Amino acid sequence: MIDTSFKITKTENSKISELDFNNIPFGRAFSDHMFVADYKDGQWGDMRIEPFGNFSIHPANIAWHYGQSVFEGMKATKAIDGTPMLFRPEQHSIRINKSAERLCMPAFPEDTFLEAVYELVKLDQDWIPKDEGSALYLRPYMIAMDEFIGVQVAKTYKFIIFCCPVGPYYSNAVKLKADDKFIRAAEGGTGEAKAAGNYAGSLYPAKLAKEEGFDQIMWLDAKDHKKIQEVGTMNIFFVINDTIITPPTSGTILKGITRDSALQIFEANGYKVDIRDLTIDEVMAAGKDGSLQEVFGTGTAAVVANVKEIGYKGDSITLNPDNYKVSPFLKDTINGLRSTRIEDTYGWTVRVV
Ligand code: COI
Repeated sequence: MIDTSFKITKTENSKISELDFNNIPFGRAFSDHMFVADYKDGQWGDMRIEPFGNFSIHPANIAWHYGQSVFEGMKATKAIDGTPMLFRPEQHSIRINKSAERLCMPAFPEDTFLEAVYELVKLDQDWIPKDEGSALYLRPYMIAMDEFIGVQVAKTYKFIIFCCPVGPYYSNAVKLKADDKFIRAAEGGTGEAKAAGNYAGSLYPAKLAKEEGFDQIMWLDAKDHKKIQEVGTMNIFFVINDTIITPPTSGTILKGITRDSALQIFEANGYKVDIRDLTIDEVMAAGKDGSLQEVFGTGTAAVVANVKEIGYKGDSITLNPDNYKVSPFLKDTINGLRSTRIEDTYGWTVRVV
């Protein structure tokens, strides 16, 4: 039987006074508490919320060698009346379990995930920045814990949730390189999972792109290097001739929760949406004939990030994010739902009281 009751040990040494809420670096400040659970003998147990801190790991830890590691990113915000709010937390629980399944890791029970997130946010609610667009970023993750260097499915795991107060992730519009050499994901691979290894593999091509003056990579398909998949760590949207286009998430693309929210928001507000494959050639041509109106990425961390330039094989197209209409509408709607400035008719927000 799973022991889902967890013990809460509060810190006696809060670090909150050290945080400058007017100048929060992304991902470098950590709140006072974290949730931890351990998996052994085929079940999760020893669940607890405890003061945030280091834990020790054996040098032969199997996750470090073979990458059995999955994660999530989700946000808690403050409502106008100061109540802490969660946004679609159950979707993050579902997604981490899908990622875990792909990497042969055990599922973490959804009700315990939701309870852990709820209790953690309640305890560390003073760490939630109040400004709209800022948030307490929650990082749930699971790693294998076996002390063994054979390549095999681990028998022991750790599940952790810690929190970082954050400001906006990319505040400026980005310059993309459509990469015709390196890929993020291939059919049959782990592209749909939020697996640590996907991010490790993206670092080298991203470094080369930065050396060429780009901010992020637009990932193309592994076979023909033509079909657009994602951008940086985000899903991607285009507006061409007043239609919003995004590729389908058919195995190689992360099923973004912000992407899904965007599609539902667009539909509810009467936008024309087309979920279909599109190629870099089509986008470059639309950039040149004037039919490409907007390009933007969506993700939990960034929410919405505008694109101002796309480079491909030495050619480039430029866009003017100051003229964008769809992307600011989307960002305003998501941030407004999270702050309760906009009424949540979707049933996405959860008040932590
Ligand atoms: C997110 O958008 O939450 C992500 O996973 C990006 C992260 C790697 C910073």
